[in-house]
Amino acid sequence: CDTGTLAMAVFTAALGSLQFGYSLGVINAPQTVIEKHYARSLGVWSERTAVLSDNDTQETEYMEAGQHPSVVIYWSLSVAIFSIGGMLSSFLVGFVADLRGRVKGMLMINVLSVAAGLMMGLCNMWKPHIMVIAGRALMGFYCGLTSGLVPMYIGEIAPKAYRGALGALHQLAIVVGILLSQVVGLDFVLGNENMWPLLLGLSGAPAVLQTFLLPLCPESPRYLYILLGKEQEARRSLLRLKGAYDPTPDLEEMKREKDEADKEPRISILSLICSSVYRQQLFVALMMHLSQQFSGINAIFYYSTAIFGRAGVSQPVYATIGVGVINTVFTLVSVALVDKTGRRTLTLVGLAGMCCCAIAMTVGLKFLNDYSWMSYVSMAAIFLFVSFFEIGPGPIPWFIVAELFSQGPRPAAIALAGCCNWTSNFIIGMTFPYIQAWLDCYVFILFAGLLLVFTVFIYFRVPETKGKSFEEIAAVFQKGRKVPKDNTELQQLKSSSEA
Ligand code: GLC
Repeated sequence: CDTGTLAMAVFTAALGSLQFGYSLGVINAPQTVIEKHYARSLGVWSERTAVLSDNDTQETEYMEAGQHPSVVIYWSLSVAIFSIGGMLSSFLVGFVADLRGRVKGMLMINVLSVAAGLMMGLCNMWKPHIMVIAGRALMGFYCGLTSGLVPMYIGEIAPKAYRGALGALHQLAIVVGILLSQVVGLDFVLGNENMWPLLLGLSGAPAVLQTFLLPLCPESPRYLYILLGKEQEARRSLLRLKGAYDPTPDLEEMKREKDEADKEPRISILSLICSSVYRQQLFVALMMHLSQQFSGINAIFYYSTAIFGRAGVSQPVYATIGVGVINTVFTLVSVALVDKTGRRTLTLVGLAGMCCCAIAMTVGLKFLNDYSWMSYVSMAAIFLFVSFFEIGPGPIPWFIVAELFSQGPRPAAIALAGCCNWTSNFIIGMTFPYIQAWLDCYVFILFAGLLLVFTVFIYFRVPETKGKSFEEIAAVFQKGRKVPKDNTELQQLKSSSEA
């Protein structure tokens, strides 16, 4: 098996996920430095402060500038606009993927990433706050597309036996991106006065490398055959991906999928929502994404430094980098296990483990003032929470959607699931500080409750997809469904999407 081309194709695609992770993480560490620049460019930070000899006074004025209402607004916008960009563009995933193919789709959107990187990198040339907000919006827009296109491409080119491991590489690249941004964001690396624009601008760099590599990657054989009907090109693509082997069984499987897909035409987002044919799969796909986000993982990622501070850790920044390391290590564990243990088991173990950790975190925070060793309980709970997340609930939702749907509805399903993910991410990011202020040390009990609900749901409703062909997976869902007489519903779907 020519694993070289397959490895290169997966690596190249995953460069898109790396940028996603980097952009998620990069905005945390340099917050105060950037706020100061905003304050200066908004005229609410006096130059007088810069020449004050007394460091304490300078620090106080500088803190005050960071809390100035207009700085707070521009800063919050710089953080949040990223998710808004992603929410909007995730709807376009299907359109971009089917327009000229998965590879050309990924290639085209790199323009967005490079432009966003340049805007942020050169933000000091004009008003930094406007440049950064525009750059983050554009980068979010790019990441919304990439978070759908990458798992779709990998899912379609991966051999059945490695589909889970290769699919989980999307998440691995995300967490490596987060870790990278945490490390280069340290103040003695790039997270300082002079270098922060470069720190933000670098988020566009992998797109440049990806642009050179993508033309060498084979197009998805499923796209070529099932969508375009180009059997010979699909055969060539399969041979490039798998080396010298007999592609006939793979082509036959695709032919059966194509016959199905011709009966069930490319399905728009709207017809997918309205159809009862795919209701079960869609419900499962959306719940998987909701469980990923409402597990509370990003409350840890966005606010870890503050949470560690509260839990009594003296060097919270380094503890945050520790979280990044654990995060990466356990994603690797998931890559190794997912095709053996299965998606369902890992998701269940992960969610149930996170639920227990959320309870332990609450106990730790509650009794922190009574027993000093409780800070260790909270610390351990946070590290374990992240580890359980990466074993299953982190990586699996991203690629299971491509597995749950056949070729016809796949792009629309990925678009919807992506939008659900980005929207819930945005909601958690915006509301967590308020929920924390309201529930205080009981904040993680809320997540424990949600985690319990998700665990029960997955237990009863999510089938195992490990080692099954797309056809077999579809059959699992068809079994539980009433087949519409004369395929009338499929006909209706066909006419609605043709219209
Ligand atoms: C997943 C989530 C993302 C989160 C990351 C943490 O990719 O989608 O929101 O920040 O995992 O590792």
